[in-house]
Amino acid sequence: MNFKEHFNLPDDLIYLNTPGNGLLPKETLAWRQKWEQDFFEIKSNLRDEQPEFIYSVKETVADFFHSKPENTYLTPNFSFAFATLLDLLPEQLTYLVLEDEYPSLQYPLVNRKLKFFSIPVSAKLEETILNGIEQHKPDVLVLSLVQYISGLMIDLDFIKNLKKSHPNLLIIADGTQYLGVAPFDFQESGIDALAGSGYKWLLSGFGNGFILLSDQLKLMLEDLKSDVPLPQVAMWKNKKILDTFFEPGHQDTLSHGTLQSSLRFLKKQGLQNIQDHIKVLSDEAYKLLLERDLILPYIAERNIRSSLINVQIPQELYPNLMNMGIKCFPRGTGIRIGIHLYNDLKDIHNFVNIIESLR
Ligand SMILES: Cc1ncc(COP(=O)(O)O)c(C=O)c1O
Repeated sequence: MNFKEHFNLPDDLIYLNTPGNGLLPKETLAWRQKWEQDFFEIKSNLRDEQPEFIYSVKETVADFFHSKPENTYLTPNFSFAFATLLDLLPEQLTYLVLEDEYPSLQYPLVNRKLKFFSIPVSAKLEETILNGIEQHKPDVLVLSLVQYISGLMIDLDFIKNLKKSHPNLLIIADGTQYLGVAPFDFQESGIDALAGSGYKWLLSGFGNGFILLSDQLKLMLEDLKSDVPLPQVAMWKNKKILDTFFEPGHQDTLSHGTLQSSLRFLKKQGLQNIQDHIKVLSDEAYKLLLERDLILPYIAERNIRSSLINVQIPQELYPNLMNMGIKCFPRGTGIRIGIHLYNDLKDIHNFVNIIESLR
């Protein structure tokens, strides 16, 4: 499938920086341009229809991830959603987290002085998590579905089964480096809270994010706040208690509308088609990079792999790569790349040839 035509990609550039920020589809740009113009028009009703519009975005997000609109909250980004959730949970809970997680996942536990245990990341991640749960008996497991430096991806079936075997363990996941590359059914996932920012694999620019809650967690949070009186003022009469935390003020219609437009775009392309396309490219990339011993050993050992790859070449090569039109980023012990729908096999081969010529 040719997804490339939906993006404005020049021939002399290979875009591999989706783990940093993803590209906007042309039709999302067209939507933004029209929206801005209509918003500017004095006679337009767009500005007055802000609440209805934001609700329609929520419906799109819920539909995209198989969540319920009433369990879906729109936020400016992942970090706001996660920090707000932490503040809603009882202070005495204990957390299990992975070492080297994205700072917005780790640090809010530190600055709130919450009790947490960190476990090392290895090829046997799922086993390590089980051992960590056995040893520390945490109330909450917090993790990114795909790690932002190494690209290590958790086995999603493991999460599903973990929830079945540990129904009282709350599972909070960050989907920022994963959602957008494959179909995803939140209600079947075993995850209690899934949050993400839209500007990477969801192709939606900055300023939009979301959090989806399971029925179990939503009820628990509502219960914790059951003694708080609901707002009485007319303007907030429709707000539920959790809305007052996750969606306390007006949302940006341009940012969230961008998310809606790009989710519609992704759905139209077919998430299964996107997943199949990415798999062909990722398989080729892993094959070529493994042959050259450029994959982190603990990633090489795993069968489950993401399309975020930390290529083990010296970071000093980064300026050369940029000069040669490769958009990527130095992270950890190498150069991080991401393979998304707008890439093709030619990109992978050109990238490998270029690093070969530089080494
Ligand atoms: C794992 C992960 N989560 C979340 C984010 C983004 O979160 P925020 O937009 O709140 O900074 C990133 C960005 O790099 C990330 O890698």
